[in-house]
Amino acid sequence: MTDPWWRSAVVYQIYPRSFADTDGDGIGDIKGIRRHLDHLEWLGVDAVWLSPVYRSPMADFGYDVADHTDVDPVFGTLDDLDALVAEAHARGIRVLLDWVSNHTSDRHPWFVASRAGRSSPKRDWYIWRDGGPGGGPPNNWRAAFGGSAWSWDEPTGQWYLHLFLPQQPDLNWSNPEVVEAMHDVLRFWLDRGIDGFRADVVHLIGKDPALPDQPPHLAERDLVGLNDQPGTHVLLRGIRAVLDSYPGDRVMVGEVNLETAAHLAPYYGVGDELHLVFDFSLLRTPWDAAAWAAVVRASQAALVHDAAWPAWVLSNHDQVRHRSRYGGSEARARLAATILLTLRGTPFVYAGEELGLEDAIVPDERRVDPGGRDGCRAPIPWETGPGHGWASPAPWLPWPPDADRRDAATLANDPTSILHLYRRLLRLRRTSPALRAGSWCEIEAPPGVLAYERATDTDRRVVLANFGDEPVAVPFAERWIVDLASDGAGADHESWAGVVDGRQAVILRPAG
Ligand code: GLC
Repeated sequence: MTDPWWRSAVVYQIYPRSFADTDGDGIGDIKGIRRHLDHLEWLGVDAVWLSPVYRSPMADFGYDVADHTDVDPVFGTLDDLDALVAEAHARGIRVLLDWVSNHTSDRHPWFVASRAGRSSPKRDWYIWRDGGPGGGPPNNWRAAFGGSAWSWDEPTGQWYLHLFLPQQPDLNWSNPEVVEAMHDVLRFWLDRGIDGFRADVVHLIGKDPALPDQPPHLAERDLVGLNDQPGTHVLLRGIRAVLDSYPGDRVMVGEVNLETAAHLAPYYGVGDELHLVFDFSLLRTPWDAAAWAAVVRASQAALVHDAAWPAWVLSNHDQVRHRSRYGGSEARARLAATILLTLRGTPFVYAGEELGLEDAIVPDERRVDPGGRDGCRAPIPWETGPGHGWASPAPWLPWPPDADRRDAATLANDPTSILHLYRRLLRLRRTSPALRAGSWCEIEAPPGVLAYERATDTDRRVVLANFGDEPVAVPFAERWIVDLASDGAGADHESWAGVVDGRQAVILRPAG
């Protein structure tokens, strides 16, 4: 049996609002993505995942879906999306959509009907409850962006649950009609040739039917981190069966916001739940080789089932970009990218990280996201000069720092740029079975250096990443050739001299 494509793929996340604007409204659109497929093909990505492009009032910029089967006019039309998929496929790039599983917009016709009255046939499609004993919310759950997770609906005299904004009511997945309707959404897109989905906060869909209070010591914490219910696994098996009924290895990668790899492992089931589950541990890991090693070891120890293949992330549309997290150091961003793209698992690259972008500084009066995540959603600069290749000189958010030197065109002309580093890393993965599919094994190295080997029967690579600022000697008995250095201009194919520079990562292959 050959491995499914997504095991050796590099997936590139596009936040469509911020990618490229072609109609001049300051907001990125699907035509903008089509325009830059050259960039993605040149870079060498295997798939793109688009954050939501569905019809939405945009209270959470698309994660509040009002129509699952149409494109919001701000992004274009369904025809534009079909064209994008066809063009991407023609270049060998697969397309994943974001499937917002836990909630809809409060303007979705389902919720409008549900809210219309207690006897509405869709009342039970969402989670409605009477007030608690004192007349307040039914329990102490908090919403992810603050405040109670319950809102009062005056006309019908009940509370509804929303783990995110009040404009994002939670679906009631214990109702079989909801399950069927959400499966139909998947089928709609699978029938149209979509290659898979990123499932938004999918660990939240199964809820404890008793909706018990959070224990007091957890009550003030973000509820999203705490929900891990057996019922979710039953639902995930049903979702998996829908994907498996289609040809072509359609994939479901789940956003499961739980703390550790050990919490994530059950979400793969026995190869009958999610295909991939994001491991966000590196997002929370300090700049320390030993801490990084511990994260990878924990993943190895937890994902023991053959079907449990890791999915690694350094940045996304919800988190401060990794270069910003690492103090703005490009050398560190390069080192981290070298690790991301040589770990065992499927790496997810967030648009703009290949340009070494940092978060934008967003002045208070320009802040628009209820979750405070504007900085990492700054528009992508494609060219130098005003507008940076956008049809409007003034996009919806400020440009990231150094946009005049970090635009894609400038970096493409510089073989020493971080953009070329990403491209070389992606190429190396393609040509090295060990990097794509091999085992991962830590090797001994001096403190401050993360060192590991990737190996198959026929191919071996060693990665050394020096988290410190000073050069470190790493003595090896064997002779090695340098395939790539994170700070270099290209594959130097020189004999390894036995020293990793400060904030440098190298990929080595055995000599001869
Ligand atoms: C996920 C998304 C985030 C969104 C939230 C609610 O965490 O990544 O952007 O706000 O779910 O849908």
